[in-house]
Amino acid sequence: MKKIKKAVIPAAGLGTRFLPATKAQPKEMLPIVDTPAIQYIVEEAIASGIEEILIITGRNKRSIEDHFDRSLELELQLKAQGKYDQLKMIEEISDIQVHFVRQKEAKGLGHAVLCAKQFIGEEPFAVLLGDDLVDAKVPALAQLIQAYDDMGGSILGVQKVASKDVSRYGIVRPKSVKPRVWQALDLVEKPSPEDAPSELAVLGRYVLTPAIFDLLEKTQPGAGGEIQLTDAISRLSTKEAVFAYAFEGRRYDIGDKEGFLEATVEYALKRPELRDPFLSYLTNTIGPMLGKR
Ligand code: UTP
Repeated sequence: MKKIKKAVIPAAGLGTRFLPATKAQPKEMLPIVDTPAIQYIVEEAIASGIEEILIITGRNKRSIEDHFDRSLELELQLKAQGKYDQLKMIEEISDIQVHFVRQKEAKGLGHAVLCAKQFIGEEPFAVLLGDDLVDAKVPALAQLIQAYDDMGGSILGVQKVASKDVSRYGIVRPKSVKPRVWQALDLVEKPSPEDAPSELAVLGRYVLTPAIFDLLEKTQPGAGGEIQLTDAISRLSTKEAVFAYAFEGRRYDIGDKEGFLEATVEYALKRPELRDPFLSYLTNTIGPMLGKR
């Protein structure tokens, strides 16, 4: 079985849920504490053994490319000021090898993944959504790759969501295989709670076989006029076994304001230098306000 060496990070969406911040700036560059969301995702891919990363960008996304490029002026300045820790930090970011391709129009996630066809070739590959953060002991993608090694087919990273929330996600029609693993018999994009085949939602991490590209090419625009990855995966599941794997970890949709705020607070509390003062602010300033709601 082929090893998963390449990952695609679609980051070309328009981020309309986060306007006006995303008018001229990609949502993937929004900082969680002090680090752009996409950096956490690139780090997850590398920690999961990925060797080559392709980021799908669009207009207004130049800052993503700049972030992974060198910043010579800043390097000189930090060196002159003797700020060697910061210098090392920014050099490590620009040492990461990432490739870029532009999606010329935001025609949907499926269309964004199709832009990776040439880069991927005939290998199974990983997809990590640019606005989904997962905080986990074992990186979420590493868990999916393990499941791929075990099951040998496409793997969808899923978690159970509340019934009222199914209409925000792609939902799996599951057939139980073993603990944490189901065969995905079908996939339904944003169903109503009554029509949902389960509460297993696909959450921003995938391992896909290259057969997906032919299917994406044939996929017509679906919900919202966009070419949906969900539709192509649904068709894939009729041709070869596709599995859903319940990964461990806390997932944040940082393209959503609430998700962004939750990630900001929880990641801040994990930073040793911020934890105590921030906790004291939350307890002493915010805590008493909560009682007055
Ligand atoms: P979302 O639906 O969350 O992104 O797509 P969006 O369209 O930017 O968000 P809203 O709803 O308008 O706020 C999930 C992922 O797919 C990427 C997004 O960048 C995000 O990482 N995407 C989406 C693309 O790369 N291209 C697209 O055409 C659409």
